[in-house]
Amino acid sequence: MLYLHPNYLPGAQISLNLRSCDCDDDKTARNVQATVVKAFTPFTMSQVLLVDVNPPVPDILPTTTTTFILKVYDPRFLQHRQGTKSSAPHPWTLAAETTAARRRAFGADILYRSTWWPDDNDDPGWEEYYYLNLQQMFRNELAAYTRLLSLQGQSIPQCYAHGTLVFPSPSKRMVVPRVLLLSYVPGPCLRAMHPSRVEPPAARALVDTVRAFGMLGVIHDDLRPDNVILFSPSADHYRAFILDFGNARVRTDQSDEEWECALVENDEPKLAEMMLDKLGIDYSPES
Ligand SMILES: Nc1ncnc2c1ncn2[C@@H]1O[C@H](COP(=O)(O)OP(=O)(O)O)[C@@H](O)[C@H]1O
Ligand SMILES: [Mg+2]
Repeated sequence: MLYLHPNYLPGAQISLNLRSCDCDDDKTARNVQATVVKAFTPFTMSQVLLVDVNPPVPDILPTTTTTFILKVYDPRFLQHRQGTKSSAPHPWTLAAETTAARRRAFGADILYRSTWWPDDNDDPGWEEYYYLNLQQMFRNELAAYTRLLSLQGQSIPQCYAHGTLVFPSPSKRMVVPRVLLLSYVPGPCLRAMHPSRVEPPAARALVDTVRAFGMLGVIHDDLRPDNVILFSPSADHYRAFILDFGNARVRTDQSDEEWECALVENDEPKLAEMMLDKLGIDYSPES
């Protein structure tokens, strides 16, 4: 059976320090208590949880629900640590995390930024590598949600708040994991759905959403059926929501020509069509 850390078992209490995505003013930071309802396991990169927020925090969260998705970017639970074909296991230890944090305080992390893989026996090096990776994923995801504000609640989840996990004190952890609080989009993922149940207009809308990402300055870079949820606003009618912007690239100072080039190179609308073709889902326009 899958081992789940007690912090993430149903019923576990999680303390957060959150600020609204609408207003980045420090004064809007709030301490928030959440109870784990369900963990979306196995965790791969971030830890994704369905949580109940109680008491409500009306100045930063909607009052229409208490149920949210919490994404925690704690490098301790990365799946990669278990080892891959090309990498030995690198289990988390507090000692290696502490050494990595001390080196970082002296500016030694610069070394790791330019090195793709740390040496296999360099445990603090791996801690730093994992730490930087998850920091980057958090930044990518927050930047993408900010850029895609106009699609939030329509074809991507709403991103309500960001902040940090607060470990119960005393805590020896040297990493303060970042978190995002998103709207919960109930429904099966695209992979779990029988192709005949996905109507062509919903499939076409999915491709249009991906095209809109590019126009709004975002390349998703992780389009796959697990990252698409089919939300059903009414019986037998589905709307596709795209999730998971951890790998996203957001346009910064690229000129129009440079960005157009990046879009042509990636051609994500075409990738979305290929994904639908592979699943046997019809997206052809009505004749
Ligand atoms: N907003 C959401 N609403 C409903 N389910 C979600 C939401 N966000 C994530 N999930 C569920 O959690 C899984 C993992 O989330 P994801 O954002 O893809 O993180 P990861 O980086 O671990 O792939 C998704 O495949 C989906 O089943
Ligand atoms: Mg995913």
